[in-house]
Formats: sequence, structure tokens, C-alpha cells
Amino acid sequence: MDRIFTLETTAYTLEQVRAFPGVLPQVALAGRSNVGKSSLINALGGSKKLAKISSTPGKTRSINFYSIRPADFYLVDLPGYGYARSSKEERRKWAAVIEGYLGRTPHLKALAILLDCRLAPQELDVSLVAFAVQSAIPLLAILTKADKCGAREQAARQAEWARLLPSGIAPLLVSAKTGKGLTMLWRALCNAAGVCPEAPCP
Ligand code: GTP
Ligand code: MG
Repeated sequence: MDRIFTLETTAYTLEQVRAFPGVLPQVALAGRSNVGKSSLINALGGSKKLAKISSTPGKTRSINFYSIRPADFYLVDLPGYGYARSSKEERRKWAAVIEGYLGRTPHLKALAILLDCRLAPQELDVSLVAFAVQSAIPLLAILTKADKCGAREQAARQAEWARLLPSGIAPLLVSAKTGKGLTMLWRALCNAAGVCPEAPCP
């Protein structure tokens, strides 16, 4: 069955996030700027035009809510963090919006944290994991750009992250470029949202 992704709302402030009336479950995608969040949304939605992609970090500057039919949940593309060229003030503002969203969205079912499979775990990623654990938000871990890593590096990174994540969370390896891991990722996202991958549920 086809999945239809629709960009429903773009929010720039916490007030706009709170005003979003969505009642369906939400799964948020977070990660460093340039890690591949928007590319993954496009790859899952089967269209290059859903989310703007750029090799310049800091492309997504808003919280974007994509409704997904017929599975009936929202994927939420969060602005990337750790973008070195943004001002301190801007970074502070975005951290507040992201934490405000994560901390106060009753329909948030899980946070998918995206990690570049080429990079060793970074401080900001580890603090986001700690924030999610503290806030009792279920986590998914996704290692992106698998096409850029050899098998040995992939395995090493998976093991490294498995040690840092709450027990039982196994990082999924994906590539928006080759499609590797996307079927498993889709199932994991639907499962986290509490919906069936091929909705409507029987
Ligand atoms: P921000 O919006 O800045 O937070 O970035 P983002 O996390 O949304 O990253 P985006 O999807 O815009 O991708 C950043 C760059 O990585 C682009 O040049 C993409 O083409 C590239 N990219 C994303 N996913 C993959 C992948 O699976 N493989 C490869 N080789 N490149 C990828
Ligand atoms: Mg983006």
C-alpha cells in the first residue's frame, strides 16, 4: 500500500508548536545538522521534494510535521543541532524549542535519534540521549549514511552506540541513498508510533 506523506505544519516557535492541533501519535527525528534527517523523510516518503536537503548544514530551521497516511501518525523533522556557524543566541533558542517540543508533546511516542555512522559519538548526541531517558521518552537509534561506511566501521559504531544507549536499543543502519535498512526502519517507526506498517490495521 502506498504511503502518503504531507507536510501539514511548519513551526518556528514553541507557541506555534503548541498551537498544532494534531491528535495522532508523533515520532520525532533529531540529530546533528547534516546527519540526514530530511533525506530520510524523503526516502521513506518516496519523494525528493518533501523536505529540503542541503549539503550546507543548518538547512532545516523549523519543526516540520509530516502526516502519514494511511498509517495515521506524524513524523516530525526537528532542526539539526550542533551547527557551528549559527550564533550562540540562535543555538540557545533552538535548544529551547527542541527541548520544549520534546518535553511537552502529549502525543510524542518516541524520539528517533540519528547518528552519522562515520562519526564517533559526540557530546551533543549523548546529552540528547540523556535528556530523552530522563524525560522517559522511548528512543530509537539510527545510524545514517551507511553507504559511506565499510562493514567493519558499521559494526564498530553499532557496538559503540549500543554501550551508550539504554539496554535493549540496537542502532539500525540505514542509507537514504541506497535504501539500505529502510524497510526495517519503517517498521520500527510504525511500531514506536503504535500503528501498523500497512495500515489500516486488521
Ligand atoms: P539539517 O536540516 O541541516 O539539520 O540537515 P539534515 O539532517 O536534514 O540533513 P540532510 O538530509 O539535508 O542531508 C545533509 C547532506 O547529507 C546532504 O548533502 C545529503 O545528500 C547527504 N545525505 C543524506 N543522507 C545520505 C545518505 O544516506 N548517504 C549519503 N551518501 N549522503 C546522504
Ligand atoms: Mg533537514
